[in-house]
Amino acid sequence: MDLVMRLLCALLGLTVLGVNIGGGSGSSCGFPAIYNFGDSNSDTGAISAAISEVPLPNGESFFGHSSGRFCDGRLVIDFVAEKLQLPYLSPYLDSLGTNFRHGANFATGGSSIRPGGYSPFHLGIQLSQFMRFKSHSIALYKQRSSYTQRLPRPEDFSKALYTIDIGQNDLAYGFQHGTIEQVRASIPVILTQFDQAINKLYKEGARFFWVHNTGPHGCLPYNVIYDKQKPGNLDQSGCVKPTNEVAQEFNRQLKDSVLHLRKQLPLAVFTYVDVYSAKYAVISNAKNEGFVDPFDFCCGSYKGYHIDCGKKAIVNGTVYGNPCHNPSRHISWDGIHYSQAANILIASHILNGSLSDPPVSITEACHG
Ligand SMILES: *[C@@H]1O[C@H](CO)[C@@H](O)[C@H](O)[C@H]1NC(C)=O
Ligand SMILES: *[C@@H]1O[C@H](CO)[C@@H](O)[C@H](O)[C@H]1NC(C)=O
Repeated sequence: MDLVMRLLCALLGLTVLGVNIGGGSGSSCGFPAIYNFGDSNSDTGAISAAISEVPLPNGESFFGHSSGRFCDGRLVIDFVAEKLQLPYLSPYLDSLGTNFRHGANFATGGSSIRPGGYSPFHLGIQLSQFMRFKSHSIALYKQRSSYTQRLPRPEDFSKALYTIDIGQNDLAYGFQHGTIEQVRASIPVILTQFDQAINKLYKEGARFFWVHNTGPHGCLPYNVIYDKQKPGNLDQSGCVKPTNEVAQEFNRQLKDSVLHLRKQLPLAVFTYVDVYSAKYAVISNAKNEGFVDPFDFCCGSYKGYHIDCGKKAIVNGTVYGNPCHNPSRHISWDGIHYSQAANILIASHILNGSLSDPPVSITEACHG
């Protein structure tokens, strides 16, 4: 008996060791694919495909061409893919050069959870696109054409990691068109729609969910530009307090929704990821990390009106709109989106699980 127990312990010990070694490279969960839903924080080319090309200097630091990302280089979702040793995600909406064997990206710049915001591609539409993608790709897969290699394996849908980063534009659109209190009051309605979307994914067989909360909205340079005049409006890091408080309230209720979904959908595994804290930490620690002022963005500028990243304007003989020389010293790329250098740090904070509930690395996000 004793010997059996010892053997058992040794075997278990070995298994645990094996998991730990596997953790750094690839996924011990063996996620074969990623399906991502969201906004510009994780758009890998949908706006470029569907609306208009995101221009250079977007992409300049890593891809050497625009790549459709609102960033000089890689986004957090790209580091998710790297960590799981999977290729960068093709946008579902792109009709050229795509490969969906290891997942697809439904995220689109400007998207919100609720319909009627900045973008037609709200979360409900992204869900419809996913359902069509799933049924159509399974049908095509069965035809066994040469195209099959670029389609997901039908059995992988239930093994994939479903990543979600959306909500920022629900808040932004609300702030633009109403009062802080109205936005706060709208949070339960927004999250009801989030809940419905997750339920639909679950019915489609999704089991592993990695949910990002929303970032510190009041730390985005464009918000600071507009709101810094009001006395007492900024916190010790220079971010807009009332706006961040609404983002924090959104996150409290999002976390409650996730806890509720865990009970409601027992076969699913949910990881709630505190991206807010990761982003806030990078901003409040800018100096120590070797960054310039965190509100000084690299591309585009504000001269009483916006000169968008990728555009130029000549005012009184001075050319505005040239990007900065060293994007890696900036946290904000264009006043709204983070730089690749910031995304590297944000990813390092969130992927190892130190800001997650439960606190597991993304490679272990299949274990409840
Ligand atoms: C451009 O010049 C005009 C006239 O001197 C001045 O009123 C305006 O503020 C200047 N604009 C900028 C952005 O410097
Ligand atoms: C995760 O990474 C962050 C940032 O690199 C680090 O501060 C933290 O100690 C790490 N946590 C774990 C559990 O490895």
